[in-house]
Amino acid sequence: MSDFYSLSIDKISRLTPNSVAVSFCIPEELQGEFAFEAGQYITIKHHVNGEEIRRSYSISSSPKDKQITVGIKKVPEGRFSVYANSSLNEGDQLELMAPEGRFVYKPSVNPENICAFAAGSGITPIMSIAKAVLDGHPENTFVLVYGNQNKPETMFYDEILELANTYKDRFTVQFVYSRAHEDDSLFGRIDASVINFILKNKCKDISFKTFYLCGPEDMITLTSELLKTNGVSEDSIYFELFTSSENEDEDSKNISLEGKTELEVVLDDEVHSLIMDKNTTVLDAVLDEDIDAPYSCQGGVCSTCIAKVTEGEAKMDKNQILTDSEIAEGLILTCQAHPVTATLKIDYDDV
Ligand code: FES
Repeated sequence: MSDFYSLSIDKISRLTPNSVAVSFCIPEELQGEFAFEAGQYITIKHHVNGEEIRRSYSISSSPKDKQITVGIKKVPEGRFSVYANSSLNEGDQLELMAPEGRFVYKPSVNPENICAFAAGSGITPIMSIAKAVLDGHPENTFVLVYGNQNKPETMFYDEILELANTYKDRFTVQFVYSRAHEDDSLFGRIDASVINFILKNKCKDISFKTFYLCGPEDMITLTSELLKTNGVSEDSIYFELFTSSENEDEDSKNISLEGKTELEVVLDDEVHSLIMDKNTTVLDAVLDEDIDAPYSCQGGVCSTCIAKVTEGEAKMDKNQILTDSEIAEGLILTCQAHPVTATLKIDYDDV
């Protein structure tokens, strides 16, 4: 079941002309529910013009903090992000789902060197991961490569400089600007030359245990490929695509499928049965029956809506999250999945 909790906004800080950091106080009785791992996100449910919308936002605060802070960048035509940047006030209440997500940093008892490549608002979970790494062991180091158009558009700029100042020998940042020349920054985008400069020059003596990548798909694909070319193993690279979670405004892509399917859904130990059109997504069919299934982005990027197929088969329009082995296990993103068999059984509890 997708439980939401009403939490009050403690603080709103402007990060850039188009983004804000929104902090929520977590009351004592919800500290357990809202404990999180660095890299996770929360889902916010809100009504704008009478319509319920849900959005996922990555947490930038440290797991050690008693509050949750998210960065919200204004997306053109984005209903919630525009509202959050212009109309939210401290003290307002919002409905939040507990933190979730699989792009996480797992602290180690041994010292480790971690590197992250982030672009734009993809910095948000990386902020949390950086703090967790630096807090996790007195010898841990963190290298951040962070791409933006220019300094004024750089989210968390001041906080990053604060980290660099606090952890002088253990935190290094390399800003990359595509539209401005600044001292101590590289000009351009995060591309082969930047990645080679970091690996073969600036950090050539550092052996990194893990790389975290967060930003648009092309940056992640390129960075990941170049890291592998430089000898980094695939299982040392973690990534999260940071396409807009506002893509509900686009027409959804439907697979052209004919006919109906008998769908059986297990959720919170209850079994629900319904008949659905194959050209509808499983999630839409489930929500149409008022079954309280978990979901957030409805765009295949957040992972909130995962379920396991226990009988039958489903095909996904889009999948940027599940690995081949998870798909082989039967996991699906229900917001992207269409049944392709006459019967489909899914289990939200067994994931
Ligand atoms: S609701 Fe986000 S991936 Fe399905």
